[in-house]
Amino acid sequence: MSYIEIKGLSKTFGERGAGGVLALSDINCSIEKGSFVSVVGPSGCGKSTLMRIVAGLLDYSEGSVTMDGQPIRGTRRDVGVVFQSSILLPWRTILENVMLPAEVLGLDMKKARARAMDLLHMVRLDGFEHKLPRQLSGGMQQRASIARALLHDPKILLMDEPFGALDAMTREQMNLELQRIWSESGKTVILITHSIPEAIFLGDVVFVMTPRPGSLERVIRVDLPRPRGMDAMGLPSFAAVAHEIRELFNHTGSFD
Ligand SMILES: Nc1ncnc2c1ncn2[C@@H]1O[C@H](COP(=O)(O)OP(=O)(O)O)[C@@H](O)[C@H]1O
Ligand SMILES: [Mg+2]
Repeated sequence: MSYIEIKGLSKTFGERGAGGVLALSDINCSIEKGSFVSVVGPSGCGKSTLMRIVAGLLDYSEGSVTMDGQPIRGTRRDVGVVFQSSILLPWRTILENVMLPAEVLGLDMKKARARAMDLLHMVRLDGFEHKLPRQLSGGMQQRASIARALLHDPKILLMDEPFGALDAMTREQMNLELQRIWSESGKTVILITHSIPEAIFLGDVVFVMTPRPGSLERVIRVDLPRPRGMDAMGLPSFAAVAHEIRELFNHTGSFD
């Protein structure tokens, strides 16, 4: 059995039938421990819905979602989440922001502080502990958000278009950083992204979703060696995967 198993998962917002929105339809997939999964699909296909369900933030209508054999229902401690816009509290320093989960979860503050400092080092924010979020660039704020998501040592890291608001150069840099953070932390990562190159560059597998109601169109394995450098994007095998995803999008009418 895989680490995360999703079987026959469907989600309807509101009443089924009467004006309800079927967001996800019969999703089946499995995710291996420690793997990096990228999820791509057109806007509104249910990517965020899927992520919120795996995070335990949202209930589902049908099917089952299990992690380590246990059903996922309700909020959980073993998940860390990063959203598109960094949701750092503007009046708290970077260190205080990163330590927030320790307060919420009632962890030992002394240990949490030491771990926060380690994580800030890992995301290369040494020296910025006592700055306020607005004193950091967008990329640095997202790195702080990643550190915060990892503070309570979750088993999986869920990221919903975390680099969508960043410029292209910063985004490339963040992709390299995230690859390193993932390999150093050993977490299972699920990354939702609009960027096909980003999905391929980072993923062991890419889940390609159909337009709403979202289901899994294909699971594509990315067999590029690691660690990957930006040059990997020029390899024929990279181009072949990008082509395959674009063809799927054309075929399913995912492009407007
Ligand atoms: N709370 C909600 N109530 C009703 N409909 C929702 C809600 N959240 C999302 N939806 C709908 O579900 C579909 C999938 O949304 P979402 O998961 O946000 O898509 P994506 O992240 O892929 O853009 C969309 O049609 C959206 O309008
Ligand atoms: Mg979304």
